[in-house]
Amino acid sequence: MIRQHAGSGRSELALGRRTSSEAPTERFFQISNLAVSFRSGDTQSLGVVDCSLAVSEATRVGLIGESGSGKSVTALAALGLLDPTTATLGESSSISFMGRELVGMTLGELREIRGSEIAIVFQDPMNALNPVFRVGDQMAAALRAKHKMSRSDARQRVLEALHSVEIHASERVIDAYPHQLSGGMRQRVLIGAALLERPRLLIADEPTSALDVTVQADILSMLHSVVTERRMSILLVTHDIGVVAQFCDYLYVMYAGRIVESGPAREIISSPLHPYTIGLLGCTPSLEGGRRRLVTLPGSQPVAGRANAGCAFAPRCSRADGLCRHLTPKMVTHSPGRNLACHHPEIPSTGRTLE
Ligand SMILES: Nc1ncnc2c1ncn2[C@@H]1O[C@H](COP(=O)(O)OP(=O)(O)OP(=O)(O)O)[C@@H](O)[C@H]1O
Ligand SMILES: [Mg+2]
Repeated sequence: MIRQHAGSGRSELALGRRTSSEAPTERFFQISNLAVSFRSGDTQSLGVVDCSLAVSEATRVGLIGESGSGKSVTALAALGLLDPTTATLGESSSISFMGRELVGMTLGELREIRGSEIAIVFQDPMNALNPVFRVGDQMAAALRAKHKMSRSDARQRVLEALHSVEIHASERVIDAYPHQLSGGMRQRVLIGAALLERPRLLIADEPTSALDVTVQADILSMLHSVVTERRMSILLVTHDIGVVAQFCDYLYVMYAGRIVESGPAREIISSPLHPYTIGLLGCTPSLEGGRRRLVTLPGSQPVAGRANAGCAFAPRCSRADGLCRHLTPKMVTHSPGRNLACHHPEIPSTGRTLE
């Protein structure tokens, strides 16, 4: 069955759209000081070291970083979906949604929120659908399990959800098995499933990474329309800064389990301050049409929490000095809405580094 929780519809709120220069406020959705450790036998490893981020009402926020930086662990932790037998949150970790603290909630309380308030599109679209059930039955079963809803009402809701993700042949798709659908169509189905209960916040973990560029653009455009029409918020998890550039208002950059830079997406892309973000942008073909040369960041990211003392990026950073190797930089406000954790960030106007 689809790993998505279902529930009743809710009337849409009349939320105002924020301007891209505003930093997210802390009232709607806020992760503070998230740390996640995993136990395996006698060994303990960190998936997230220190992550704080906020999503405001009706905004599109991106969370970006290389593979293994802790994006999915953050997304799963946000909905209490990490396996409690292996994963432990740090004592100071807090996840709040509209004033309610999610850390420490019972499973029953979390189930009330999942799907109807906050929904997630999981990273792996192939494993999220059960191959032996028709997609409509999977979506309807999730809905009916949570709400006492007749079979025909649930089918109607599923058709509406498929329509909302711009599946025009929804009568055909609802009775199809997952293998009969293209990758793009499967991803639309999963987004539709996440939208069944009209959540206020959608967490989408790499919703387009397995798709070719054209399908990716179609899905992003559909997501853009649906979140705008419904005045929803979205936390878009991706390793692709090009996706973020097209889609997001505000951006968090994650490296080795920590947020290292945040700010309005356009500002970060036009003038990144953290050497890691600069490196990530260097790894992205030109956002205007492919003129920038594709380069690779030298070295590899350390496993979260296993970096030596100091800045985790120091071994890969051409600016690193003794200070970077010994002292972990704190997150500081660089300018309104822009924060970063770096001892020697870029100064946008001159290209010099701060001393
Ligand atoms: N269940 C788990 N048990 C142990 N370690 C885990 C578990 N899940 C994730 N990790 C580790 O936590 C770190 C962060 O993983 P995560 O899946 O969040 O990365 P990611 O940023 O989503 O990467 P990708 O872009 O490849 O999806 C990695 O080092 C990963 O190996
Ligand atoms: Mg991931």
